[in-house]
Amino acid sequence: MTGPRTGPGAPPSAPTDKLLDHTYDGIQEYDNPMPRWWLLTFAGTVIFSVIYMFNVGPVGSGKGRIADYDASVAAYKAAHPEPEATLPPEQLAAIVADAGARERGKTVYATNCASCHRADGGGLIGPNLADDAWIHGGTPVDVYRTINLGVLEKGMPNWGKLLKPAQLQEVVAYVVSLQGTNPPNPKPPQGPAQAPAPTP
Ligand code: HEC
Repeated sequence: MTGPRTGPGAPPSAPTDKLLDHTYDGIQEYDNPMPRWWLLTFAGTVIFSVIYMFNVGPVGSGKGRIADYDASVAAYKAAHPEPEATLPPEQLAAIVADAGARERGKTVYATNCASCHRADGGGLIGPNLADDAWIHGGTPVDVYRTINLGVLEKGMPNWGKLLKPAQLQEVVAYVVSLQGTNPPNPKPPQGPAQAPAPTP
């Protein structure tokens, strides 16, 4: 290798650099600008920060960070839909019409619901389920929603989390079939009266 040695340990280069004017207690400094590659990188980060702030394509979609965030959230929600609180009326009508489902629902009811609604649905802690008065609506769609989500602040558990989906549907079929069975000594009606849900 020819030429002067460079790197650590090399003899100090001849002071050809430009000396700056100022002096601090007799100490002077040379004019050594930042290396070009460093300055270009720094300028690049500044430019990138502006692009990032306003999210100008091709870095983002060009709509801005907040719109991009909202779009990702919407895409996630579309891919993971909330389970429906209730089922379509046709599906429930089919379950309500199924005598086997009502019979299985009776067992689910006896195990889980009778303690609060009485074995015959006449009502105890919970309202009478055999009359045509409903706090939360008496159509199979309403009854499914109430049993599924519960009314936690009033002490009605959210059975959607506690029962299997089939059991939930069966107990809805059974509750709907309690309409007009006139159990003795019922709890007085609570909520507005509704035409009884059509029983098969
Ligand atoms: C720990 C007591 C308790 C148990 C167990 C319970 N419920 Fe309830 N239920 C309630 C209470 C209290 C209400 C009244 C909620 C209100 O006032 O809004 C209620 C309301 C209801 C309603 C709505 C009545 C209306 O008038 O709209 C239905 C339907 C119902 N329960 C069905 C069931 C079924 C089916 C089960 C069993 C799977 C069950 N409940 C178990 C306490 C209970």
